[in-house]
Amino acid sequence: MTNKTFYIETFGCQMNAHDSEKVVGTLLERGYARMETPEAADFVLYNTCSIRDKAEQKVFNRLQQFKRAAGKGKVFGVIGCVAQQEGERIFDRAPHVSLVAGSASYTKLPEMLAQLEAGNRRVTGLSLDTEETFDTPFTRRDNPHRAYITIIEGCDKSCAYCVVPFTRGPERSRTGASVMEEARRLAGSGCTDVQLLGQNVNSYHDPSPAGWDFATLLARVGEIAGIRRVRFTTSHPRDFVKEIIDAIDANPVLANHVHLPVQSGSNRVLNAMQRLYTRSEYMRRIEWMKNASRPIAITTDIIVGFPGESEEDFQATLALIEEVEYDSLFAFKYSPRPNTAALEMADQVPEEEKTRRIMILLERQRAIQIRRNAATIGEVREVHVEGRNEALGQWIGRTTDNKTLNFTHCGPEGSGLTGTYLPVRITRAGPNSLVGESLN
Ligand code: 5AD
Ligand code: SF4
Repeated sequence: MTNKTFYIETFGCQMNAHDSEKVVGTLLERGYARMETPEAADFVLYNTCSIRDKAEQKVFNRLQQFKRAAGKGKVFGVIGCVAQQEGERIFDRAPHVSLVAGSASYTKLPEMLAQLEAGNRRVTGLSLDTEETFDTPFTRRDNPHRAYITIIEGCDKSCAYCVVPFTRGPERSRTGASVMEEARRLAGSGCTDVQLLGQNVNSYHDPSPAGWDFATLLARVGEIAGIRRVRFTTSHPRDFVKEIIDAIDANPVLANHVHLPVQSGSNRVLNAMQRLYTRSEYMRRIEWMKNASRPIAITTDIIVGFPGESEEDFQATLALIEEVEYDSLFAFKYSPRPNTAALEMADQVPEEEKTRRIMILLERQRAIQIRRNAATIGEVREVHVEGRNEALGQWIGRTTDNKTLNFTHCGPEGSGLTGTYLPVRITRAGPNSLVGESLN
């Protein structure tokens, strides 16, 4: 590295996006300058995802592209979930890589950077044996209005399909006091919309004597002056308690949206997945939400084609989505992952069958969304303005239940509506977004 310049590309979930904000802050603090392209930077970092095989392949494609650039002073780093999963094997697959580090070692990033700067071309951070969380004062957030706040890292569950316990290590919660301090600081700087993050936020447990559980932390963050919306992701049905819904019910600042991944509607498959709940236990949580005093949007994740999933199991999943009537969902074809229990399971479902099932599922869900969104035409929702779509001449807004509501607004264009909250009347509805007019 002749110049302290870096480029970073991020794959994967919100946890990864937020980790990158912390990594970027740490690099800037060390005197590195951020570049917009990998070509312009001496230090190229990929923050990677290995949740499905496709996600994992992306980083190797990127590295392949730049193979010849190494040796001309360019240094490559692979961090995040693929780094943790593949470890030093990455040096064999892509010898021009110099840093391989998983998220559980980012607290040691300054030391690792010092080694790279000293010319070491095989630097690793792969220990999962940590009780630390990566909360750094240097986090670099680019959006002044919305922010992620990590409350818990790692995962102690062992879902049979999932790499996360292997890539992000054991569960570690931050203290309630440090979460509150960060949220207050953000509110003080004008940020109004925060999202509490963790692989399983519901198992949050404050390690300080205060001993707050997740519902308590959520309620406290919602009381901070200046904060207007609090979201959280992701939840695990097993640890999702009614107190969370009671907290949302009691304070409209807590956004009325819950993402509650179900994965399958079949008890047989849920059991094979080691999800630790039954369909009826899951449905009880849905009932709590449906009985709340304000409507709560519900979204989910579904995996089709888990080993052994029969047509009957798949039909049970279809019946479940009709029963819940999700506001939206993410569907995935099961992808075998290293180290996981499902990898060796019998009755792997053929790829074409997974494709057939996911198409049917998405088609059903699309019909649900068309129906439900159409029913909101004429209603008024408060949106948080996220920006402007110049091509359409519309502002981009988000409702508290996490829907995109694009709208027209009489008034000077580009006059900085971004970050404000406005009432908008819904005039049109599609499956994935709403269109409206501001009432001002
Ligand atoms: N194959 C397919 N989908 C997966 N997910 C997690 N692991 C796998 C896998 N091996 C999905 C789950 C999870 C979401 C983030 O990704 O639905 O909730
Ligand atoms: Fe991908 Fe999971 Fe890692 Fe997030 S935690 S980056 S989804 S593998």
